[in-house]
Amino acid sequence: MISRNLLFAAGVAFGALSAAQAARADSVTLYCSADEAWCQQLARGFEEETGITVDMTRKSSGETFAQVKAESANPKGDVWWGGTGDPHLQAAAEDLTEVYADSPLRPELYDWAIKQAEASGNRTIGVYSGALGFGYNKDLLAKNNLPEPKCWADLIKPEYKGHIQVANPNSSGTAYTMLATLVQLMGEEKAFDYLKALHKNINQYTKSGSAPIKAAGLGETTIGIVFLHDAVAQAVAGFPIEPVAPCEGTGYEIGSMSLIKGARNPEEAKKFYNWVLQAKVQEKAAEVNSFQIPSNKNAKISDKVPDISKIKLIDYDFKKYGSSEERKRLLSKWDNDVASLPQ
Ligand code: G6P
Repeated sequence: MISRNLLFAAGVAFGALSAAQAARADSVTLYCSADEAWCQQLARGFEEETGITVDMTRKSSGETFAQVKAESANPKGDVWWGGTGDPHLQAAAEDLTEVYADSPLRPELYDWAIKQAEASGNRTIGVYSGALGFGYNKDLLAKNNLPEPKCWADLIKPEYKGHIQVANPNSSGTAYTMLATLVQLMGEEKAFDYLKALHKNINQYTKSGSAPIKAAGLGETTIGIVFLHDAVAQAVAGFPIEPVAPCEGTGYEIGSMSLIKGARNPEEAKKFYNWVLQAKVQEKAAEVNSFQIPSNKNAKISDKVPDISKIKLIDYDFKKYGSSEERKRLLSKWDNDVASLPQ
């Protein structure tokens, strides 16, 4: 009798285990490098629509690149969505991501999204775009009697000492976009002189790209150098933030997505890839205050999205600044020549 009960219990346990295993098999591990709220919206939306469980981790673009590289002998992630395009291009060049050229969604995408794919041998693709700039806290600016910063050149003036925050370009794609933008705008030597001068005014280098403008919203710093849509998001959320498109011109990102090479769940990863490129999914970003330009031509664009036609944009060379050699070289130069200086 006892043994019969035991057998029955073991059978139940066995049944439960195999159901759990089956559920785990239908899952996808998502590395997400945009803002947490957007990452959550996508993970939960995909789960609801497909029944596939999403294990999502949010990390900055440079950090995710380093993680994918560190795990390459035994990959744990399946798909990497969002974050600036440069580290995605570097991952492609280092053979850390998969070629995928025949997504049925490709005809719906803007040229800039497809160009990003072509620049990587179809190992990555554009999912959104947005211009770099900065934002300031209007109340703090007035309280400190500071003039309104309008240009990159303003940010190195001594009166802004201790008032500016930006992320560290090693972890953050936003800050790397700033570094590469300045090099393209000014030439390398002048850009590094500028970064050294800017260093004197920086109160903190954060890990995540959008952290400086969230800090400005909370009154912890006056100015944050970020993507313009991140500054707009804080203003829409009710903080006294004014976004600024720098007068000299500025760079921009092509937020990207890549399938991780050697993924454990390649089919689910592809399902996510094609689901997330749909117009109806992309246009929901505005509901979580993410105001990037969607890469699907059919996605409605929120009126809060910064109007790129009114911003002076440089012809950002994604291929060059996303190349493994150039990104590594510029980051180590920034570490050695800028970050190591006293403030
Ligand atoms: C924010 C922006 C995104 C950008 C991302 C990069 O989330 O809204 O457009 O791609 O930052 O993050 P990172 O932390 O790498 O700078």
